[in-house]
Amino acid sequence: MPCGVEFLYCDLASLSSSRQFVQKFKMKKIPLHVLVNNAGVMMVPQRKTVDGFEEHFGLNFLGHFLLTNLLLDTLRESGSPGRSARVVTVSSATHYVGELNMDDLQSSRWYSPHGAYAQSKLALVLFTYHLQGLLAAQGSHVTANVVDPGVVNTDLYRHIFWGTRLLKKLFGWWFLKSPDEGAWTSLYAAVSPALEGVGGRYLYNEKETKSLAVTYDLMLQRQLWARSCQMTGIPDVTEGVFSDSCHLGKTLCPAHHSQVCEGSPVCIFHTHLPS
Ligand SMILES: NC(=O)c1ccc[n+]([C@@H]2O[C@H](COP(=O)([O-])OP(=O)(O)OC[C@H]3O[C@@H](n4cnc5c(N)ncnc54)[C@H](OP(=O)(O)O)[C@@H]3O)[C@@H](O)[C@H]2O)c1
Repeated sequence: MPCGVEFLYCDLASLSSSRQFVQKFKMKKIPLHVLVNNAGVMMVPQRKTVDGFEEHFGLNFLGHFLLTNLLLDTLRESGSPGRSARVVTVSSATHYVGELNMDDLQSSRWYSPHGAYAQSKLALVLFTYHLQGLLAAQGSHVTANVVDPGVVNTDLYRHIFWGTRLLKKLFGWWFLKSPDEGAWTSLYAAVSPALEGVGGRYLYNEKETKSLAVTYDLMLQRQLWARSCQMTGIPDVTEGVFSDSCHLGKTLCPAHHSQVCEGSPVCIFHTHLPS
């Protein structure tokens, strides 16, 4: 079977570019088994995407939000029992200090490069959990997990203070993960048989760990999703999928110690019924 790599241009800082990319990809009529939402910028000066969104929020979060939503049908068609399609979203430990400012998601009142980056990474965790809830409720063979790659020696740090950049240049090879090592947890989420059918996990060093407490807030997940649909101009496919009790009563999935919706038989973190 012939195989190869093909390049398709996609500027995630542009909603129309993301749409065009999806259109071109779908014309190829090929399955999509793994989508890794990896692109990102960090601590850039205050500036806007072509659509007028603050860059961290627009690119890191909304770009991936739109891309994933537009590819959901292809992912669903590509997954099968025992071979789920997978969405892997790259967040960061920075999300632990992030705050989601629903009144000012674009940081227009007060801008901090670090705060804006942290908010975008926090939004990606909330998005992943809500996405997993949707996929599980629909019984689709697609899972969504979120990954923290650790501190990795890459170009991401190009906008930080010059002194820190110099230290990183001189000693980064010694105390930071190499790009290869930084990719390990994403690869684990993308291909590990141990994660077949398992979603809604926050993974660090190839292990599940807890994300910031607020990321498990179902109401916040739902609000962010709905607002993101408005901002990107797509229909909210989660509307009506979750019962209200889902967001009022939060209980623990007995198998996985994660939230499960009352009134819904599925654990939102898994595509199978909790045991
Ligand atoms: N490095 C770390 O310590 C660290 C820690 C935690 C989380 N992360 C996360 O890991 C992910 C990868 O970052 P990295 O460390 O590999 O940084 P990087 O070397 O700067 O890579 C960033 C990637 O994002 C792509 N990108 C930037 N703007 C884009 C746009 N508008 N449209 C499409 N793609 C765009 C870049 O593509 P081009 O090369 O074509 O510009 C590049 O492939 C990011 O989400 C980052 O937040 C990294």
